Amino acid sequence: MANRTDLKSWQNLAKHAETLKSRHIRDLFKEDDSRFEKFSIELPHLLFDFSKNLITDETKAALLALAREVDVEGWRSKMFAAEHINHTEDRAVMHVALRDRSDKPIVIDGEDARPAVAAELERMRKLSEKLRSGGWVGFTGKQITDIVSIGIGGSNLGPLMVTEALSAYSDKRFNMHYVSNVDGVQIADVLEKLNPETTLFVISSKTFTTLETMTNARTAEQWFLKAAGDRSAIAAHFVAVSTNRKLVTEFGIAEENIFDMWDWVGGRFSLWSAIGLPIVLSLGYEQFEALLQGAYEMDQHFQNAPLEQNAPVLMALVGVWNSNFLGYSAQALLPYDQCLHRFPAYMQQAEMESNGKSVNWAGERLNYRSVPLIWGEVGINGQHAFYQMLHQGTDIIPADFIGSVESNIDVPGHHDALMANFFAQTQALMQGSDEQQVRAELTAKGLSEERIAALIPQKVHRGNRPTNTLLLQKVDARTLGALIALYEHKIFVQGIIWEIYSFDQWGVELGKVLATGIQRELAPEAAVGTGHDASTRNLLNFYKKARSK
Ligand code: F6P
Repeated sequence: MANRTDLKSWQNLAKHAETLKSRHIRDLFKEDDSRFEKFSIELPHLLFDFSKNLITDETKAALLALAREVDVEGWRSKMFAAEHINHTEDRAVMHVALRDRSDKPIVIDGEDARPAVAAELERMRKLSEKLRSGGWVGFTGKQITDIVSIGIGGSNLGPLMVTEALSAYSDKRFNMHYVSNVDGVQIADVLEKLNPETTLFVISSKTFTTLETMTNARTAEQWFLKAAGDRSAIAAHFVAVSTNRKLVTEFGIAEENIFDMWDWVGGRFSLWSAIGLPIVLSLGYEQFEALLQGAYEMDQHFQNAPLEQNAPVLMALVGVWNSNFLGYSAQALLPYDQCLHRFPAYMQQAEMESNGKSVNWAGERLNYRSVPLIWGEVGINGQHAFYQMLHQGTDIIPADFIGSVESNIDVPGHHDALMANFFAQTQALMQGSDEQQVRAELTAKGLSEERIAALIPQKVHRGNRPTNTLLLQKVDARTLGALIALYEHKIFVQGIIWEIYSFDQWGVELGKVLATGIQRELAPEAAVGTGHDASTRNLLNFYKKARSK
């Protein structure tokens, strides 16, 4: 198989980038009145405008040629056909099955997965309705008021992000709490405010072996038993989501309280499975169905739209262009909707755990960049923090701006103020302001020629900083489902282009394994092993000595 950089389409793009690097996006707008129409896509859920990138018709065609040369369409079919494209773990990648709203069989590993998926959804619905109707009560007969979701990574970020995003639609009778950190401060802080009689714990772990989750689950169990006294009370207060029924049962959670998921669902793509149980409990089942529906509609678009008009494909290609051909090494995610405040953290895991790899399918080292650094924050706060660097820093950081036409909570006078900034920022990043504009502004203020000359280089914004704009009607469940699925498919397409396995995460393992050994050595009676490097050994000894004082 040819290295990606040897492909004709890759080489064309590399040559083409050299000719475009000296151009300014501002001038490309002047030269082409139809740029917005050409480089934007309107879907039922959102408007995706990628016209403020350093691209032309030729770029788009060349990027599409790359997508075709690496057979994105073929790989897409393989994913939807449940082939084991997660090669290194020998698994299918079928999070799309969890939101498939059609009635066709979904055959995974020789079996129709639809009945099992439907059965788990039905169990989630029933639990949520039981809680709402008062049919599920705590060990003293009181209604549940607080739900504590314990999990980490993909078993935490999805439900957390979604319940925060859709909190306007939540059932206010239930307070949601999320515990992921093994730092006891987090769980202590949550438990301090709760009454065991009215608290339900959802322990979410695909493997049910993750140290952070198991430690927090045991602490929760002890806290609960201190009040309840008797283990028989656990059944009304602990449910679990996992692929590992055996370990969940050994932990002491009743069989009927275990929600299943499957190994063909990757952790960071699992919010559509029973990992989404906290979403169902907080928002109600109908909202969860709307989330699935939105994602399914995006799946349909991804599967059926020609590459030329395919939003996830184009988003992926623009990302590849910016990173691999223009050389930008980071990508910011900037939601302007406060309710999306956990979206960057969620996507950070989805993108970087998936495509943060440096060998190709054949195990050879990549000679090109895979995923850039993904980071972000609520945009408007960022404006008063790191945007200085986005506007005038030495590095160019492409950014996705995500905003909504309507706010989930309309407070008079706020939304247009927010969105004015949203639109202004992408314009400013792209257009900049040149010497002439700065001179005119300073002259109008009556500054001396000497002062103007000194300030011009400081105040000039060179612009030409690429952005995508995603304009949603509103962050409701259906739109959010579609937005998440859009990014998921972008990740998939980029993984194919970079020729990497996007669905494993070996990079997380090494640290985990070392931590287990180190935790044993931290016991007061244990010695620090000699196998560590001098830095780690001395740090461990210093820590142990300081802790024993
Ligand atoms: O971060 C590594 C990882 O394996 C993620 O992929 C996963 O989402 C998370 O840990 C939690 O794993 P589990 O659900 O098995 O506890």
